Amino acid sequence: MATALKDMEPAIDLLDVSRAELYRDDTWHEPFRRLRAEAPVRYTPQSDFGPYWSVSSYKPLVEVESLPEIFSSEAGGITLADFDPTKHDVRMPMFIARDRPVHTAQRRTVAPAFTPSEMVRMTDDIRRRTGEVLDSVPLNSRVDWVDLVSIELTTQMLAILFDFPWEDRRKLTFWSDWAGDIELVKNEELRLQRLQHMFECGAYFQNLWNQKIDKPQTPDLISMMIHSDAMAHMDQYEFIGNLILLIVGGNDTTRNSMSALAYGLDQFPAERAKLEADPALIPNTVQEIIRWQTPLSHMRRTATQDYELMGQQIRQGDKLALWYVSANRDESVFGADADEIKVDRPNARRHLAFGHGIHRCVGARLAELQIGILLEEMAKRRLRVNVLEEPTRVAACFVHGYRKMAVEVTRY
Ligand code: HEM
Repeated sequence: MATALKDMEPAIDLLDVSRAELYRDDTWHEPFRRLRAEAPVRYTPQSDFGPYWSVSSYKPLVEVESLPEIFSSEAGGITLADFDPTKHDVRMPMFIARDRPVHTAQRRTVAPAFTPSEMVRMTDDIRRRTGEVLDSVPLNSRVDWVDLVSIELTTQMLAILFDFPWEDRRKLTFWSDWAGDIELVKNEELRLQRLQHMFECGAYFQNLWNQKIDKPQTPDLISMMIHSDAMAHMDQYEFIGNLILLIVGGNDTTRNSMSALAYGLDQFPAERAKLEADPALIPNTVQEIIRWQTPLSHMRRTATQDYELMGQQIRQGDKLALWYVSANRDESVFGADADEIKVDRPNARRHLAFGHGIHRCVGARLAELQIGILLEEMAKRRLRVNVLEEPTRVAACFVHGYRKMAVEVTRY
């Protein structure tokens, strides 16, 4: 009987790359290798997120992102998880999940926070804080790199961007972790908890907003939003949505790149030796680490009309997962050694980890600046991170990263 029932269960679709365990166990490489070779645009009829198309190589991914009128960010949101009002879901519009013209206007509001001159203005402060965090790490002892360095540095940065009360800054980490976890879609109770945390977050920020509303403009993001035409009149959901976008956008992603630089360089000691011998390789290493990690595995688009993509017929309403994590390992662009870190890879900059086209990450420069300064300050102190055991990874097909990483920091 047991066997008969088992026989009736649908077999696992090994090419359904939305399965969380692939990322938890770090076994996503092989299915994506097959997808790139055999079916770079492939229909997955069944998954925990319903049917979807997987776009897993470089060329079609860029094609989709270059056609934002046909492949909408707004029609179904930006992750494979669908919005479901019957399951404790409230739509919180954020500009990453809007199409033109609203997207253009709202993006324009926050873009001044990330210009090259703003990066210059922030550099000394980032360098000072990075140095302080590194100097607080005990040498030759077992520590969690994720908590001590990656989370601390990214959370401090967000607190500064938002002019957020310093002593409460870990709340940002907490809200970001809840907001970015799309696997919660599978559990109604957790979904409800998430919603409560999002409202807590909204209430906290509403209070900060109220404190700034009648004051002259300051360089932080809340003040920028208050003093803009495009964002000043948002309703509560849109306000929370856009805040969450900036919190998650700036938090999990940079955090997981900082963890990846510890883990990845430990995996490739010859490359680490090259970098230690020549700090001029740091800017390229930043690109290479972001490519190799790809902190967001995918973004989703929804087709607004029928379209033929690499010979496959996409229908209006279909959802597509754009697998950056796979396109960044595309052999035809990055070569046969795409799975490896090469600190001097000549085209590391071509990675798609920030996306492509009108939604390309608005915070990319800030992320690069923070990761670069971390590597520079480590080099100045001659610090090396030795990973002691396999890290605990995030079990999800959206945020691609690490929960814990036991390391010992030594001097070389
Ligand atoms: C958009 C990745 C850091 C804020 C995006 C997108 C990706 C991405 C893949 C969507 C692109 C698309 O749909 O085509 C990353 C990675 C980061 C990072 C890998 C770090 C290594 C940051 C930081 C911030 C930020 C530091 C801000 C503090 C945003 C925002 C958007 C965005 C607001 C929406 C842009 C739009 O829709 O026009 N990011 N991000 N990100 N990111 Fe980042």
